[in-house]
Amino acid sequence: MRNFLMKFSAIVSLLISTCLSLQAEAPQSKKYESFRPGEVWLDGSGVPINAHGGGILFHEGRYYWFGEHKIEGEAGNLAQVGVHCYSSADLYNWRDEGIALKVSENPRSDIAKGCILERPKVIYCAKTKSFVMWFHLELGQNYSSARSGVAVAKNITGPYRFIESKRINAGFWPMNVFGRFKEPLRPEEKEYLSGIKMYGGPVDGYPLDMIYRRDFFDGQMARDMTLFVDDDGTAYHIYSSEENGTLHIAQLSDDYLSHTGFWVRTFPGKFNEAPAIFKKDGKYYLFSSGCTGWAPNAARLAVADSLTGEWTELGNPCRGTDEEKSLTFRSQSTYVLPVVGKPGTFIFMADRWNPKNAIDGRYVWLPVLFDEEGAPYLEWQDEWKY
Ligand code: GAL
Repeated sequence: MRNFLMKFSAIVSLLISTCLSLQAEAPQSKKYESFRPGEVWLDGSGVPINAHGGGILFHEGRYYWFGEHKIEGEAGNLAQVGVHCYSSADLYNWRDEGIALKVSENPRSDIAKGCILERPKVIYCAKTKSFVMWFHLELGQNYSSARSGVAVAKNITGPYRFIESKRINAGFWPMNVFGRFKEPLRPEEKEYLSGIKMYGGPVDGYPLDMIYRRDFFDGQMARDMTLFVDDDGTAYHIYSSEENGTLHIAQLSDDYLSHTGFWVRTFPGKFNEAPAIFKKDGKYYLFSSGCTGWAPNAARLAVADSLTGEWTELGNPCRGTDEEKSLTFRSQSTYVLPVVGKPGTFIFMADRWNPKNAIDGRYVWLPVLFDEEGAPYLEWQDEWKY
């Protein structure tokens, strides 16, 4: 009996100590008082925030962060769940608001589970009192359809109702091309194009003035994207088009659910993606990256007096070591957040992708700093507050 009791109490104490150590290792919800770029960032329930390629909307005193929900492994690069929403009053501590837009279980849906659904952005339409989400959509598992999807909700956290996906502005010429650049492709140009294999990055012989003309009838390609609402309430869709070679800036309709046909081409043949826009002191700034897939490259910055251009390149906005400058602190831009109530304070939001284990992609948020001439730049911070 004594032997049994000793064994029993040994087992009990082992169980208790195992439970205690498991508890110590389990993620704890904690109160954050600063940003720590690149580190695991837990939501209020102690679970790592899962909102990649995201954007933020401020509404009635709270910030709402929308991003791609990823799962473990390479399968996480495809949309298995949908668009995740979090909310916060202080930008450091985030409450899980659940899945705002779910992928569909119906394999015939444009947003069927397993499609590619990236870089969701949500804006509020005062005219219709609704929240409008646009995102990059590929039907299926490769990057050939280059469509944009749109969804709408009455509540900011959703559920969002998927409306449609499509190519952009079919039948409309850009506002900043003239004469023979507003004509469909001639047969010899079609032949030239068919001889070039494009993969989403710079290629020899990339034709500066053909792809948008090829796509005039069926609509323009759109991959990496963002949205921007100007002070007058006009919304714009900014996206990598023409096989990623050229950015387009396209006006949205009053209800933000479609395009008006007013659009411009920007930086033809410069292969910009990951666009993120902000406005300061009447000037528009555009962060972007080059096209190297999930691997980071050097950021780019441009400035304009009007959203539809002329845009002027300002070069690489990153300061620091060569590696920090050439890899944008190992991240790629997704959004620039104006901090509400702090004019002139902007947060550069970027993703440190992890395509082998997509769920473990990290968030790199850095302050947008300004030099003596007022030009924006970025510098690494281990930890910072706004
Ligand atoms: C990146 C892009 C991401 C994703 C990825 C796929 O360049 O910014 O949003 O599309 O390519 O390789």
